[in-house]
Amino acid sequence: MTTTPVEPEREEGLQAAFDATIARGDRVEPRDWMPDAYRRTLVRQIAQHAHSEIIGMQPEGAWIGRAPSLRRKAILLAKVQDEAGHGLYLYSACETLGVSRAELTELLLAGRQKYSSIFNYPTPSYADVGTIGWLVDGAAICNQVPLCRTSYGPYGRAMIRVCKEESFHQRQGYELLMTMMRGTGEQRAMVQESVDRFWWPSLMMFGPPDADSPNSARSMAWGIKRNSNDELRQRFVDMTVPQAEALGVTLPDPDLRWNEERGHYDFGEPDWDELAAVIRGDGPCNAQRLEHRRAAHEDGAWVREAALAFADRSASADGTAPADRSVPADRSARAGAR
Ligand SMILES: [Fe+2]
Ligand SMILES: [Fe+2]
Repeated sequence: MTTTPVEPEREEGLQAAFDATIARGDRVEPRDWMPDAYRRTLVRQIAQHAHSEIIGMQPEGAWIGRAPSLRRKAILLAKVQDEAGHGLYLYSACETLGVSRAELTELLLAGRQKYSSIFNYPTPSYADVGTIGWLVDGAAICNQVPLCRTSYGPYGRAMIRVCKEESFHQRQGYELLMTMMRGTGEQRAMVQESVDRFWWPSLMMFGPPDADSPNSARSMAWGIKRNSNDELRQRFVDMTVPQAEALGVTLPDPDLRWNEERGHYDFGEPDWDELAAVIRGDGPCNAQRLEHRRAAHEDGAWVREAALAFADRSASADGTAPADRSVPADRSARAGAR
């Protein structure tokens, strides 16, 4: 995961070339020299993003078997499957930085890498499927659209495709909620109750306030991040309030009102202690999410082994070298599964 050591004078030249690439707004590509700290920051961010996509399948996936109609089941299946695809694009982007998907998975399972805190909240109601699409995928879009222009090429390119699919996710969530809001009083109450639970955790998806986010400035200087946490949170609120009005739901914030002077909505302060607790591992579903992921990984061991054996057999039939055992199983497995 580190770059090959180079002479100090040469490193200066490489650093200058890297700085110039960032200053021009060009992409940094996998074979380009990059500072170790830039690489480490990217690995941490892309891995956390990939883990979020995969863990994020759980809260909604739990509803696939209980969807109220075939149409809703087909939509939900497609959505959850998209999230698995997003995880794979992002693990692949991370692998171009010299760290394998198998290693990243180990770090997640050992609790040494994080995923988005939002997925540590439960989904006790079917309306949560709609609310997650509308608010959680909506917040993800606000966070991710600027990442399409991020300075690291493979990450930016993965995000372009991810964002197109996220926009489908957001619309399907909104459409589901709109359908329920046109239904019975009980259905409308389900939507309101779900929105009440998910509103504040959705605002927390943008991370702590800028003043408490010390690494943000460096990520912005490197062109990894394009907007601050608070800017993106404001953008999300401005986008969502008119949608809530059209839907006919109340957002649970007494301080929410249009500010003519600023040209933005004012809103209340999320409970940052709650965010810190969820990040620490004390959210309502942290243990359950990791346990489920760990069990799924163990249950899938035979698939990885079989794919590796198949890759070895295909390689010896071709007369090429067998799969390199130093390559983590996941990478060989994918090559063998083509
Ligand atoms: Fe996604
Ligand atoms: Fe999504």
